[in-house]
Amino acid sequence: MSNIYYRYLNLPFSFIDEEKITKDYSNMANFDPNKNGQWRIDGINPNIFNKKAYKWLTAFNCHAGVAEIFYTAPHSKIMYHIDYSGFYPVFDYVKFNFVWGPKENHYMKWGEPKYGVSNEVGYNSCGSPHILYKMDEIDEKESVCITQPILVNVGRPHRAINDSDVGRWCLCLIPKTNIDGCRIEFNQAIELFKYYIT
Ligand SMILES: [Fe+2]
Repeated sequence: MSNIYYRYLNLPFSFIDEEKITKDYSNMANFDPNKNGQWRIDGINPNIFNKKAYKWLTAFNCHAGVAEIFYTAPHSKIMYHIDYSGFYPVFDYVKFNFVWGPKENHYMKWGEPKYGVSNEVGYNSCGSPHILYKMDEIDEKESVCITQPILVNVGRPHRAINDSDVGRWCLCLIPKTNIDGCRIEFNQAIELFKYYIT
């Protein structure tokens, strides 16, 4: 059975310039290569995204919502959490993730809350709302070493682990539908972007 957590994408062009992002953000005053970093940015951001990306999304009657850049330091991790929009109930909504840095020994993992676990909304260091979980509150279900652009379900608990000696970078983009401005559900996204799913 296909997993309910991710699908690899075969996009027709590079959405982002990884080298430029690495250079720009690792030169920021508050950047410490040994500490995790998170930056929230506008999804409509021609300095970061290939302009073709916006045209590509428009063809699906979608647009770019908010984006985030995550730096996970060597031998570091991000805790299990659900991304939370604040405006809608949690459902299986998606993000596009672009990951670079280490070639191996880094993972995105998903799990399900154990019976009876129901946690409150908090905020990550760049102000995005999310629901945090401790390791013993989650049954792990899926793990992937991301090697190409990927569609990820962020309405289920997920985390990033970097067991490598190299900093791991991840740029997330939230696609939204032009119909009602809502986030896109995982199965709808699979149908919508089916010609680009590998
Ligand atoms: Fe997340």
